[in-house]
Order: sequence, then C-alpha cells, then structure tokens
Amino acid sequence: MTARPRVLSGIQPTADSFHIGNYLGALREWVRMQETHDCFYCVVDQHAITTEHDPGVLRERTFTSFAQLLAVGLDPERSTIFVQSQVPEHSQLAWVLECQTGFGEASRMTQFKDKSVKGGAERSSVGLFTYPILQAADILIYQANAVPVGEDQRQHLELTRDLAQRFNGTFGQTFTVPEPMIIKETAKVVDLQEPSAKMSKSAPGGCVFLLDDDSVSRKKIKSAVTDSEREIRFDPVGKAGVANLLTMQQALTGRGMADIVASYEGRGYGDLKSETADIVMDVIAPIRARTRELLADRAELLRLMALGADRARATASITLRDVYEKVGFIPV
Ligand code: TYM
Repeated sequence: MTARPRVLSGIQPTADSFHIGNYLGALREWVRMQETHDCFYCVVDQHAITTEHDPGVLRERTFTSFAQLLAVGLDPERSTIFVQSQVPEHSQLAWVLECQTGFGEASRMTQFKDKSVKGGAERSSVGLFTYPILQAADILIYQANAVPVGEDQRQHLELTRDLAQRFNGTFGQTFTVPEPMIIKETAKVVDLQEPSAKMSKSAPGGCVFLLDDDSVSRKKIKSAVTDSEREIRFDPVGKAGVANLLTMQQALTGRGMADIVASYEGRGYGDLKSETADIVMDVIAPIRARTRELLADRAELLRLMALGADRARATASITLRDVYEKVGFIPV
C-alpha cells in the first residue's frame, strides 16, 4: 500500500469565531481531504501573538478554535489536530529557516506591509516580520505535499517552497516541496459591505461568523452591498457583491452556477439575499451548536489537544533531528 499524500494547514485563533470565508476557503476542504490524505491541522496560537493580544482572550480563543475544527467535521482519530505552541519543534525549525531567509526576501512579504500600516513598521514586532518563516516551518516540519488555503496565503507558500528548495540545495534533500491547494471558486470570499476586500475578522460588519446568532448573520447578509442594477448575473468583476452571494450559494449547495442564476430570472436582490441567508444558516447553525457542546467539556478538549500534540511531535521530531544534523548541531 502506498502512503497517502500528506497535508498541513493552520488557522489563527485571533477572533471569537471563524468566519464563512475561512470555512469556504479552507476548513471545508480540510474536512474533505481526510478521505484522501494524511492530514495535520493546527491552531496557530504562536502566530496570534505577533500583534498585541490579551493572554486570557487568546487562551479562550484557542479552545474555541480547536472546538470549531472538531465541529466542522475534522475527526481526531483520522487527522492530527493540534495546537502549534504544544509542538515546540515548529519554533525550533523556524530559527534554522530564519537563518536561511534573506532580510530583503522577508521584507517583500505583503502581509507584514499590510498589517504594519497601522502602527508603522518601526513599532511592529519582529515576530510579525518573521511570521511567514514560522508558517514555512509549520508546513515543512511535516514534509507536507499539499497545503489547502485561501488566496491570501499564496505568497507565504511561495516563500515556503523557496526555503525548502534552498535548504535542500545547500544541505542535501531534506524537505518535501509543498504545493499550494487553492480552491478557485471560494479562494476569496469578499466582505459583504466592501466587496473589493476579502472577508476578514478585522472588518466584522461585512463578515459572517460561524458562532454568531442567526439573527445577527441574517441581518448582515440581508444588508449586503450589491449594485444599482437589478439583474442577477454572475460577474465577479462588474458585480462583485452579487457574485459573492451567488458563490456562497453555489459552494454551499453544490448546484451549478448557471442553474442558480436561471432560478433568479425576473426576481430581485431581496430574494437573492434572503435565500443566501437561509442556505448559510442551514450550514452554520449545526456547527455552532456542536461547538457549544464541545466547549462545555474542557477536560475532553485538553485530552484531544494532548493526543494531537503527541502525534504531531512524533512526526515533527524526525524532521527536526535530520535538520539539526544537516546544519551541524551535535545531538544530545
Ligand atoms: P487565517 O487564520 O487568516 O485564515 C485561515 C484560512 O482561511 C482562509 N481565508 C479565506 N479564504 C477565502 N476567503 C476569505 N475571505 C478568507 N479569509 C481567510 C485563509 O486563506 C486560510 O487558509 N497565515 C495563516 C495561518 C497559518 C497557516 C500555516 C496556513 C499559519 N501557519 C501553515 C497554512 C499552513 C493565516 O493567517 O490564516
């Protein structure tokens, strides 16, 4: 029997809830990949301290994030689901990779530029600057073949591939060079209020959170920005707001786009919005209920975290040992 290809992906615990962009751009694919791949999925709490944070809030969000991963359908028996800081090999590898990364190369990462706009680069943490290198370590330490993510992570995956190839070239074959897996249709779910921007927790008004009450999310979808026309067509450039609602419907129902568009002939944006809201609610209400159930039993969540961390370390430590040996460190 040939081994299944491996995937690794991660998500930040930086909000009280994941959103429908995370779900459609990444999490749903993570669940599907359990059928075909050897899966490693982590809550990247170390990435979450690169900007100012409150320790108590982070701890709570890490529990909630872990519970949501289980609630969307990840199975801790089949997949290795864990919390990044519980697997110290990630940061150990990150240091080695940082020493292989050019300062100019790291400076070209657009996420740092975007996120440091507010306080200015001078006041941003060095951790925010080296963030993509820790992400590369997350991936490379498991020898992942594929990384399911949304479009916004493409540049980080390019850096990951460059670092893997460079290390292999310098020290001999060590890392698998991973392929990005970006689901075209849902790679970028856009903000409901600002369709030129991706949906993001940092703009909560245009963001549908999985754990919000139905009434809150329904209201956001019903007040989604569209355009001054009346016709319902799929045109992501000219009619980004309408196209976003249609895309959510397509992704959540599995119906063809032509079929969905045809069903709105002679009908208006009001119908499109309220039916999209119904479809979204049908999917997220059970996730929310299951997350709440899971959060009621912290001991069980801690047990599952420990199980995931143990399994992750068993694999991560093999890569780290090889890397340490290749760079010339003396084993203990
Ligand atoms: P994060 O936590 O911002 O997002 C988690 C996943 O959700 C996707 N996503 C979206 N997809 C479609 N439309 C959107 N509007 C949208 N918003 C978010 C993201 O692309 C991502 O796949 N740096 C990563 C976390 C990370 C990671 C890793 C990912 C750390 N280490 C290793 C993969 C592999 C991040 O901040 O994702």
